[in-house]
Amino acid sequence: MDANDLRLKGRSFLTLHDYTPAEIGGLLDLAADLKARQRAGKAHALLPGRVLAMIFEKSSTRTRVSFEVGMFQLGGHAMFLSSSDIQLKLGETIKDTANVLSRYASAIMIRTFAQQDVADLAAYGQVPVINGLTDDFHPCQIMADMLTIREHFGGLQERRLVYVGDGNNVAHSLMLGGAKMGMHVTICTPGGYEPKEWVVKWAQEDARQTGATIALARDPHVAARGADVLYTDTWASMGQEAEHARRVKDLAGYQIDETLLSEASPQARVMHCLPAHWGEEISESVVYSPQSIVFDQAENRLHAQKAIMAALIP
Ligand code: CP
Ligand code: NVA
Repeated sequence: MDANDLRLKGRSFLTLHDYTPAEIGGLLDLAADLKARQRAGKAHALLPGRVLAMIFEKSSTRTRVSFEVGMFQLGGHAMFLSSSDIQLKLGETIKDTANVLSRYASAIMIRTFAQQDVADLAAYGQVPVINGLTDDFHPCQIMADMLTIREHFGGLQERRLVYVGDGNNVAHSLMLGGAKMGMHVTICTPGGYEPKEWVVKWAQEDARQTGATIALARDPHVAARGADVLYTDTWASMGQEAEHARRVKDLAGYQIDETLLSEASPQARVMHCLPAHWGEEISESVVYSPQSIVFDQAENRLHAQKAIMAALIP
């Protein structure tokens, strides 16, 4: 399959709301194709000589390594720019940073706090910008997740995904991705930890076009019934470290453990974007149970992001 056929060259990847179901499906097909090519040892240097600038204002294991390895496998180069080293930290504006990096790099990946900073980088820069996680969204993660669900269930349409825990950036992107791809997504949180209303609205708008459903729930034991996928993420995201103790108290009971897993569909799979915190949002035994596909998800970051880069970077 030819990355050019997707007609996405030059686009940025800021949220899944910006992409059509056909575009997301095309990227997932390309990801599967690149994964097969890599497994077969077939060359796929689709981006020779291209450079990805990666700005990190938060920590990362998977995102940093998978983008860097992915760019290398595509024949290009990725450059790690920690926010503590670049002038952004000392007050250089996003606008100037966007203009300068666009003169050197073929694309920019950024992990930061405010979604608006990512949007500004894309607005002011002249190269594609890829969202590597903000306080609001984590679209690359969900591309990898949807690739993983497709592999295990043969498709996305009509699959029932139940997310249990904090209604955070990952929950937001799961709603948007699920809505685009015709899934049934339930976000189960305690009061005060629901996903943001405007994101629920976006997802519900998208769901109307595809037959997807987006629901909010309170009781994990009710929500888990019939789930194909049980998904969770940390109770305290990066930037919320000071709230950790309060969150552990408030979110107790929203853990994926063996009891909750036994209440889902017998063929249910467990997903977690990682890093996991055993004894909080998930138990160690569930992470390592035969029903867990968390490490397939982690691997698929590589393949999904290679597809995004190959399709978007001119
Ligand atoms: N899932 C994820 O984005 O992991 P990192 O924070 O390690 O990049
Ligand atoms: N919700 C988590 C995801 C980490 C990959 C965070 O933002 O820290």
